[in-house]
Amino acid sequence: MKQSIIMDVDTGIDDSLALLYLLASDDAEILAITCTSGNVPAKQVAINNLAWLELCGAPDIEVSLGSEVPVLAPLMTTEETHGPQGIGYAELPAPKRSLSKRHATEVWIDLARRHPGEIVGLVTGPLTNLSLALRIEPELPKLLKRLVVMGGAFNHAGNTLPTTEWNIAVDPESAKMVFDAFSGLPADRRPIICALDVTEQIEMKPEHIAKIAEIAGSTPVEVIAESDVDGTLSSASNKVVKYLSDAVRFYMEFHVSHDQGFLAHMHDPFAAAMAIHPELGETKAATVDVELAGSLTRGQTVADWRGMWGREPNADIVVKVDPPRFFEHLTQRVGDYARRVG
Ligand code: RIB
Ligand code: CA
Repeated sequence: MKQSIIMDVDTGIDDSLALLYLLASDDAEILAITCTSGNVPAKQVAINNLAWLELCGAPDIEVSLGSEVPVLAPLMTTEETHGPQGIGYAELPAPKRSLSKRHATEVWIDLARRHPGEIVGLVTGPLTNLSLALRIEPELPKLLKRLVVMGGAFNHAGNTLPTTEWNIAVDPESAKMVFDAFSGLPADRRPIICALDVTEQIEMKPEHIAKIAEIAGSTPVEVIAESDVDGTLSSASNKVVKYLSDAVRFYMEFHVSHDQGFLAHMHDPFAAAMAIHPELGETKAATVDVELAGSLTRGQTVADWRGMWGREPNADIVVKVDPPRFFEHLTQRVGDYARRVG
């Protein structure tokens, strides 16, 4: 049984791996990819997704442009984290296929109306497009089977400001609007939130890339070494392995330059896995809201675990993961896929 997915992304190195993971998953079908500004501007996000799809010889999945700016906050991007084009050192062949003529909001609403109760919405970037779609179709939460969001930080430090996580920080108003709109759903339909509390436990290391390459049958052995000169490019025989390695190397260099070790927090692939295999994480219900006015904390996600606000839980927050189990799952699927298409 394939799970239908709409993915809204700000691709992004980890968004790229989330895309490869879902393309690799026989139990998932990506119905559309909608693009928002975040890691890099939305138009570059869209080019990145078209380019990955063509590199992999994937089906012509609709890729649509969404909002290029947040609903209120001034746009911020983070090329220093994801590279000038958003995919690290990878320089993918320019895509031939064009963008969809439909706006992201039209794609979300049309697909949800045509497949009521069937689609899992996955957002691995700012929540701008989803919040705009909700303004047009307030019934969207009931039309989707479920929503999975990579975003937020609860009992965990932020990665953008001391208490804020990037996807929420880029567009806090949209995040609040989404969490409010998805309140009141039955317990088994509450949005699944993958926050930094768990996604920063998903530490991709060079040996994980080497494993993907080995499974893909790529040669030579894929080595990303901290001692390499920055920007060393992969010579992998498998093209998916090569470009993934080039992308992830940039991310590892970023993390080590920020005292986090020579590793890459793979936030979005974990969220993508939760969209089709929610058994990979343990969740706990809470009422989630977003601080909009704090001079120091604007964009902070706050979880009321104990009902102090007197409001019903509106989210299932992932509180426990098994990183080795997740990486076993991820490397096998992406490695097998790279062998097939690379
Ligand atoms: O904070 C991590 C999130 O922000 C990830 O989705 C990353 O791709 C960026 O969008
Ligand atoms: Ca992202």
